[in-house]
Amino acid sequence: MQSADHLINARLAAAGERLVGSTVDPELREATRPEFGDFQTSLALRIGKQLGIAPRLAAQKLLAGLDVSDLCEPPELAGPGFLNFTLKPEYLAGYVTEIAADERLGVPTAPVKQRIVLDYSQPNVAKEMHVGHLRSTVIGDALGRVLEFAGHDVVRQNHIGDWGTQFGMLIEQMLAEDLRAADLDLAEMSALYRRARRHFDGDPLFATRSRERVVALQAGDEATLASWRQLVSVSVNAFDAVYRQLGVRLTAADVMGESAYNDDLPRLVEELAELGLLTESNGASCVFNPGFLGRDGSPLPMIVRKSDGGFGYSATDLAAVRYRVGRLHADRLIYVVDVRQTLHFDQVFAVARRAGWLPESVPAEHVRFGSVLDESGQPFKSRDGEVVPLGELLRIAQDEAAALLADRGTNNRDDLSRAIGIGAVKYADLSAGRSRDYVFAVHRMVALDGNTGPYLQYAHARLCSLLRRAGDGPAATVTATATVTVTTLTEPAERRLAYVLTRFPAAVAETLQTLEPHQLCGYLYRLATAVSGFYQRCPVLQVGVDPATRDSRLALCAVARRTLARGLDLLGIVAPETM
Ligand code: ARG
Repeated sequence: MQSADHLINARLAAAGERLVGSTVDPELREATRPEFGDFQTSLALRIGKQLGIAPRLAAQKLLAGLDVSDLCEPPELAGPGFLNFTLKPEYLAGYVTEIAADERLGVPTAPVKQRIVLDYSQPNVAKEMHVGHLRSTVIGDALGRVLEFAGHDVVRQNHIGDWGTQFGMLIEQMLAEDLRAADLDLAEMSALYRRARRHFDGDPLFATRSRERVVALQAGDEATLASWRQLVSVSVNAFDAVYRQLGVRLTAADVMGESAYNDDLPRLVEELAELGLLTESNGASCVFNPGFLGRDGSPLPMIVRKSDGGFGYSATDLAAVRYRVGRLHADRLIYVVDVRQTLHFDQVFAVARRAGWLPESVPAEHVRFGSVLDESGQPFKSRDGEVVPLGELLRIAQDEAAALLADRGTNNRDDLSRAIGIGAVKYADLSAGRSRDYVFAVHRMVALDGNTGPYLQYAHARLCSLLRRAGDGPAATVTATATVTVTTLTEPAERRLAYVLTRFPAAVAETLQTLEPHQLCGYLYRLATAVSGFYQRCPVLQVGVDPATRDSRLALCAVARRTLARGLDLLGIVAPETM
């Protein structure tokens, strides 16, 4: 179903073209102020200039050749030559009635279905997940849901850090303390990690043993591999528990860690050499990409093999690109990773293109995000300077949500406080705008007012309660069975709500276009605000409301409820029916 603004834009373009004899872009936008109607364009100003006539005259000529009477009130000519468009209530009512019967709420499926490999979460073995991994996990999961909703085939890849020299000291430290990985949980492993590092820094003999242990691991020594496998398996189980707590769509089957590419690395580096892309520099094998310069202007290397013979993070990512394109048949690659890895991905993509592993037809995007700060604006750390484990943060948010429910006298069920607490954390993260840093302030996140997750959930729950009272089953049933027809949009607040409902497809499109979930967050906040305005000014079930108005408003509520639920689901946020 074509949205009104697309239709108006197309007709404006045709009218403009007839006037000037060449293609024009009306750039129809949502109006900046309510008194300018719903949409506005400055096309007449540009046409006036082009034809050398007064812009208001150009606007009149444009209007003479434009028929939008099926969608809008007569367009208004404002100021120096702006055209303002206000949708007719009949059009809005018809639109909402139509999407009421549409699973997708007016959102079209992508014209070309892509196979998209989505790299997100990526925690490191033997270390607890921290807020940085929260961002990747939450943003990546929301993007995966939106891309899937658009009809794409999303292949999730959890590129966990399960390889590297740190495993030498971890395994040696376990031997020194007579510990077995299988007996440890992830918190104990993280503590072990810290002791191993101190030991490594302070004891040259231990450091030597650790290095030898790395060699044994790389050479495939069975006992060493067995310890390593246990470290990985305990960690992956712990990550899985966090994913379940968060309600994200990642499973153990999506894990494709760094170690998975080990066997491919020697061959890969050889191929780079054959392609003539490799330069030896201080004993390391590097690729120099044109245009990559250091601060002092000297060429910046990407190291694929270190001077000690070990392969690095970049080599692994090159192998991953090759696997994703060659074996997973990706049409598009997306990486949801910290902004600090920008140079790394720029280099990896550049080398992969030069080597022919990443065809120009396959876009590769680094979806970058900023840091999570504490309330004093510092990177989020606990008092002893350690990273705060993610599980602990989520528990704090859940406790805060339980307190909120207790305050409201709501029966505090576990699943409810979890939905609210986790939803609050996710929404705060997603709505912040991903490239910016944001402050993790549990109290502000878990609040019923302001631009928060609970505010949106509350708008949804209120609609559920209204629909429940109108019928006699759960809200979702009412929506499905009631004849949903919007007929009257007389009150500005209900007209406003109907209008905002027509904007859902645009919000989804914007999110797909920019890979910025905050676009969808902003829309849902707007919708929740329209719902609460409607609630205040438009009685539905109260005595004295005539049956036609009541039914029309119920229909509007049903569509608003479904749009909120769908939008929250696309963000990975649960929408409880009561709160
Ligand atoms: N494990 C890395 C970290 O914690 C992130 C990995 C990102 N993904 C990738 N393909 N390099 O920083």
